[in-house]
Amino acid sequence: MRKDLAGKTTVIIGGSSGMGRACAMAFGQAGARVFIGARRREAVEKVAAEINAQGGQATGRAVDVRRRADVLAFFDQVKKEWAQVDILVYAAGTNIPEREIKVLSEESWQDLLETNLSGALHCTQAVLPLLPDETGLVIYISTGASRHADRSGVAYQASKRGLDGIAFGAAQELKGERGLRFSVVYPGMCNTPLLDKRPVPTPPEVRAKILQPEDVAEACLYIALQPPRVYIPELVIYPTCQ
Ligand SMILES: NC(=O)c1ccc[n+]([C@@H]2O[C@H](COP(=O)([O-])OP(=O)(O)OC[C@H]3O[C@@H](n4cnc5c(N)ncnc54)[C@H](OP(=O)(O)O)[C@@H]3O)[C@@H](O)[C@H]2O)c1
Repeated sequence: MRKDLAGKTTVIIGGSSGMGRACAMAFGQAGARVFIGARRREAVEKVAAEINAQGGQATGRAVDVRRRADVLAFFDQVKKEWAQVDILVYAAGTNIPEREIKVLSEESWQDLLETNLSGALHCTQAVLPLLPDETGLVIYISTGASRHADRSGVAYQASKRGLDGIAFGAAQELKGERGLRFSVVYPGMCNTPLLDKRPVPTPPEVRAKILQPEDVAEACLYIALQPPRVYIPELVIYPTCQ
């Protein structure tokens, strides 16, 4: 087991599947204590149990990032267990098949904005008092779709471009003031359950060639392993075939 993050505390939001789950596993294997949140309690507890079975230290707890009160209660629990949070990874996100502007419903628009954008704000504001000055780090999983227009849908693209606003705005305010770092990771197409929400199914031969969740987790780990003097505001990671 790698021990590069031994002694560090990490909260992974959206850790029940896909890239968030892979981050939880990678950070846990690197020696960090990991607190995993997502809506499905059984799923986050299962990921935590897998990390603990490998000799790591992990806890899973349900949280719905769309509900501010829920997020505050989640971080209250984290605070009770740990004095501080060294790293937050925000990997929660969603999309919908009915994503084209001509069919997008008001309800779906709200849901995507709340999950992909407002949830990130709730979690960032909740973790700020727990991040240590000079070393604290927040990593947001965005998407390549927020850098280059694609067909992922207007609600998805709007929410993810908004995520840049949270990350870059917070960095402007808090990097100089407290030495906190806010990094955005922009992955291309990745083989996770989110692909099941595409309007057209992604064939297995494509899934095999695109990014795997572990590739994105390694990128996040790379950011987390940098010394505090090193700041990586943006990291783009695409599959070669994209
Ligand atoms: N897959 C891709 O091709 C791709 C490419 C670029 C960027 N991304 C982004 O990568 C991030 C991770 O997605 P993924 O591909 O790994 O998909 P995923 O496997 O579907 O993971 C999404 C995660 O978000 C959590 N989540 C969703 N709504 C939530 C809510 N209201 N409250 C708390 N947690 C919530 C899910 O857990 P619960 O369902 O248990 O709540 C799950 O853990 C997303 O932001 C996505 O937009 C994906």
